Amino acid sequence: MRTKPSFHLTQTDLFELEAESAPPYTVSAPIYDHMMREVDYPSWAKYILMLMKLAGKETRRSKIKDTKLCELACGTGNISLIMSKLGYDVTGIDSSKQMLEVAQTKLSRTRRRNACFINHDMVTYSSKETFDTAVCVYDSINYISDANALAQFFRNVYASLKPGGVFVFDASLESNSLSDASLFTQRGRHKGIHYQRRSLYDPKTKIHTTYVRVQRKDELFEETHREYVYKLDTIRGLCGKAGFNEKFVAGDFTMLEANNESQRVHFVLVKPNHD
Ligand SMILES: C[S@@+](CC[C@H](N)C(=O)[O-])C[C@H]1O[C@@H](n2cnc3c(N)ncnc32)[C@H](O)[C@@H]1O
Repeated sequence: MRTKPSFHLTQTDLFELEAESAPPYTVSAPIYDHMMREVDYPSWAKYILMLMKLAGKETRRSKIKDTKLCELACGTGNISLIMSKLGYDVTGIDSSKQMLEVAQTKLSRTRRRNACFINHDMVTYSSKETFDTAVCVYDSINYISDANALAQFFRNVYASLKPGGVFVFDASLESNSLSDASLFTQRGRHKGIHYQRRSLYDPKTKIHTTYVRVQRKDELFEETHREYVYKLDTIRGLCGKAGFNEKFVAGDFTMLEANNESQRVHFVLVKPNHD
């Protein structure tokens, strides 16, 4: 949950007050889209489609009817809703029911029926239904706290895909956490809710922590978001062990190969046709 800094309100420093702790993506869910308003989700979705095409998937509107796409850690459904508008049959999974409530409200406004949201931990999620494509973006795998859980996650995604299925996901690498833009303080107000965020990175533990303070009426909450920074080769090794073929790893929203200096990488994996 990292964006560029913005300082535009003068108010009490919420970090100087006593706050009650709340789990990540609970009290912040109603203001998540506001906090992320500078994120260009339509362009991100286009980029994902380009990567899917690179892995041999048909992405033309006329060809994707009944194509099953699973978005893991879909949050408030920004990518899921774009994909369902294009015609994909979308299943969004997220461990936060508050984030999914926002996603569901946005879906209801569209009257589309080709998307559904499931409240589940993506590490342990498995389904009888298999998907043509799986997607997981915006630091979401960085929320997985250790390599064993990450390995389990990749094995489950693999099992949820049809042979020939494609998995596109991103990961934030250490150079992102070390960059100035990532170490921010942000404050704002939306729908009468004040919030303040502070982000810090500890290179020793490789944990990037963002504290989110949310003030609703007279109540003040703090969410602690811990993101775990993995090495490119660690992620690569675990994907291979799960059985995936690596098609491409793209660096920093380009179509160039990622390296250790990349800030954000997108993996493009294919489940082989033989098992
Ligand atoms: C930074 S948000 C990204 C949300 C969405 N992908 C987007 O692009 O806006 C991270 C999301 O990951 C979800 N998440 C974190 N750990 C999870 C887990 N183990 N299982 C399912 N969802 C998880 C959070 O609830 C949150 O919605």
